[in-house]
Amino acid sequence: MSSDRDRQWWKEAVVYQVYPRSFNDSDGDGIGDIQGVIDRLDHIDRLGADVIWLNPVYESPQHDNGYDISDYRGIHHEYGSMADWEELLSAVHDRDMRLVMDLVVNHTSTAHDWFQQSRRDENGYREYYYWRDAADDDYPNNWSSGFGGPAWEYDDDVGLYYLHLFDETQADLNWDNRAVREDIYEMMNWWLEKGIDGFRMDVINLISKPAGLPDGDPERDWVGIEQFADGPNTQEYLEEMADRTYDECDTMTVGECIGVDIETASEYVREDGPLDMVFHFDHMAVDMGDQWLSPAEFELTDLKRVMSRWQTELDGWNSLYLTNHDQPRIVSRFGDDGEYRRESAKLLGTLLFTLSGTTYVYQGQELGMTNYPWTTLDQLDDAQTIGKVGAAIAAGEIDGFDDVKEIVRARSRDNARTPMQWDDSDAAGFTDGEPWLPVNPNYPEINVATEAADEESVLNYYHELRSLRADHDVLVYGDYELLLPDHDTVWAYRRTTDDPDVAVDDVLVVLHFGETETTVSLPIDAALDAETLISNYDGPGSLPDMTLAPYEARVFALD
Ligand code: GLC
Repeated sequence: MSSDRDRQWWKEAVVYQVYPRSFNDSDGDGIGDIQGVIDRLDHIDRLGADVIWLNPVYESPQHDNGYDISDYRGIHHEYGSMADWEELLSAVHDRDMRLVMDLVVNHTSTAHDWFQQSRRDENGYREYYYWRDAADDDYPNNWSSGFGGPAWEYDDDVGLYYLHLFDETQADLNWDNRAVREDIYEMMNWWLEKGIDGFRMDVINLISKPAGLPDGDPERDWVGIEQFADGPNTQEYLEEMADRTYDECDTMTVGECIGVDIETASEYVREDGPLDMVFHFDHMAVDMGDQWLSPAEFELTDLKRVMSRWQTELDGWNSLYLTNHDQPRIVSRFGDDGEYRRESAKLLGTLLFTLSGTTYVYQGQELGMTNYPWTTLDQLDDAQTIGKVGAAIAAGEIDGFDDVKEIVRARSRDNARTPMQWDDSDAAGFTDGEPWLPVNPNYPEINVATEAADEESVLNYYHELRSLRADHDVLVYGDYELLLPDHDTVWAYRRTTDDPDVAVDDVLVVLHFGETETTVSLPIDAALDAETLISNYDGPGSLPDMTLAPYEARVFALD
């Protein structure tokens, strides 16, 4: 990656992700809403975020919290109205921030009018979805749903099965049908004309299914993924989409690409590619077993290797994320949510703000929010967790929730979806009513108000990280070089640029992912002067031999 790449606002941006259902409730129904987001824009602005990515707020039966859209041009009533949404857009723009909307076009809700007409075989809508026949007691193919169980649902009235790669209420659209694509482009242009600043594209690399829908490898956790991910026409459809919609607009686009490899991703995001960035999942797989419900350990060396490869081998711009609404909380996953919660939350933040790419912060990450101590399946709402556990029970693989409680605690998407913790009042200031998901019991300690008043808080450290990245171009555009690749607990890298106009052109980042003090000798010329730019510990830090405290993070300018 060379430091003289094209400069773009979205490369320098920090994106703050808002999951509206869990962000802030303005009307006391226990569900976050758009007015609630407007009320809390100061918090996002103060963090120095440039962009807000808003998870889906469209009309939806909410079986998958808005990823099951029944009307692309309507706002879901629990979140507010179109007038509320327009007020949000203006308020975001007034603060010189931008708004990126979620685009969910691999599937629609079965409540969408297209699907209803498709069922009735009206007005040419039958071919909008995948309807297939099957032999008795069988399915059209062996693909499974990402949420567990088969990817096919039988419709009694139609007498055929329809394909759903997610929940049975999320039917996959047939992108090979030109009319489907035209309708989608028209809808995207409608939103662009409303003044939005880009799209985060949901599972966008699943849109092209191979002809004949061939069976997949039955051993995979998600059977069929090697068939339907990055399918034959994905590149062509993405290029057509860009061309017909946002290509001439000053937008930011990021495509969620499940199972994508670096080579394929490079096709999507290279200089003239159809997307600006992708969200890949390689680094999210490092602590996953073969199946969603099988345990696995996290090794730092795997995370380093995977993320370093994307830093150096992708032909295009990276997205930098460690969590989102589908992932557990990062301190609980890659750090320590006990004694060293603060230190490890700051360390993980340091990582995200000092790599090359666009930084994404998920709500609550800036507080060091943790996973929730789930005790029963009833407490959970997530279609994936409930689907996976239900499928394992149905298959006789487990007796009940207790058999997989630890894994669910570590992995469930609801960990990220518990309400945002604003203050130490009831329900953490999220709502005056009964929150739709339980509030994490640690809210009296971990919340925005408490952390804002505490100089040493994770929140204030995030403010410093934002300033650091804004002040040092090398952190955005510089080259990346991994040091000590085989070290078990230390991740060290250098960021350098040959840009003559920057004050600091050589940065060393040292991150210690361990609970006991360790010493390390860094392969750095001892004659170099080193100045600490930021650290989660006091003191100067010495080079090239360092003694690192638990979860110590230190960023040096070298001269
Ligand atoms: C994406 C979304 C996730 C959703 C799924 C189906 O992975 O991020 O929340 O459940 O797609 O739309």
